[in-house]
Amino acid sequence: MEVIVAQHAGFCFGVTKAVDTVYEQIDRTDAGNIYTYGPIIHNETVVSDLEKKGVRVIESEADIEGLKGQKGTIVIRSHGVTRKAQAALEETGLNIVDATCPFVKRIHKVVAEESQKGKSIIVVGSANHPEVEGIVSYVQGKVYVIDGPESAEKFDENRELDYTLVAQTTFNKKKFQETVEIFKNNGYNINIVNTICNATDERQTEAEEIASKADAMIVIGGAHSSNSRKLYEICKEKCADTYFIQTLEDLHLNLTENVKLVGITAGASTPKNIIEEVQNYVRTNF
Ligand code: F3S
Repeated sequence: MEVIVAQHAGFCFGVTKAVDTVYEQIDRTDAGNIYTYGPIIHNETVVSDLEKKGVRVIESEADIEGLKGQKGTIVIRSHGVTRKAQAALEETGLNIVDATCPFVKRIHKVVAEESQKGKSIIVVGSANHPEVEGIVSYVQGKVYVIDGPESAEKFDENRELDYTLVAQTTFNKKKFQETVEIFKNNGYNINIVNTICNATDERQTEAEEIASKADAMIVIGGAHSSNSRKLYEICKEKCADTYFIQTLEDLHLNLTENVKLVGITAGASTPKNIIEEVQNYVRTNF
């Protein structure tokens, strides 16, 4: 049996940068208490290792209040934060280290500039995802969040207005294209800025290619990781026998003799060692 591991599997550049940033702070003698605003990545192993090294996760804007007057450092993760949270963090007096991914920052800039020009903004993504909450906060005017083609069909707003449409960086690119087509067909005057990041694009394209020829497919990623779940959706569409796991312990492979090719891919917050463990297990046991 053959096993193919996607080349674009695991940590993307933005996540690598964010995680490295926290470890760099741990190594500093002058960082004081170290906090991250939200778990730095959707991976329990990494987050618990950081916790053991004294890094605390701040979960909400209410928690930020409690940090006022303390000495220390807070790291903003790759998803970015809302403008309100950013202002609240600045008020604490903590040293802020911003690890927001440049691809996310670009979206903040696009929506701020476009909305200042008077355009209404449409964000294609999950409304309650921290990245999307951050993006929305940079809009100065009307903003809509829609989760894909079905919501695009139902969208019934003023067609006289000008719109700019962006996407959450990890959105499913096929669904994004479908969504764009619907808006165009429904007569909206819409400026499309495809903000799906390269890392996501490459990861999804390769996953789809592998899943199309695989008899079974394994997607490794955190349960709360939006890009991993989208990767699972894409693979499942091409390969009915697709497994979504966080670690090797979740994997209960049931392969028949007919299975000739197993594909493996992983979300942006999956460390290399987990991918290797899964790969070794499949190679040695089947
Ligand atoms: Fe950045 Fe894309 Fe990763 S937006 S954090 S490089 S998935």
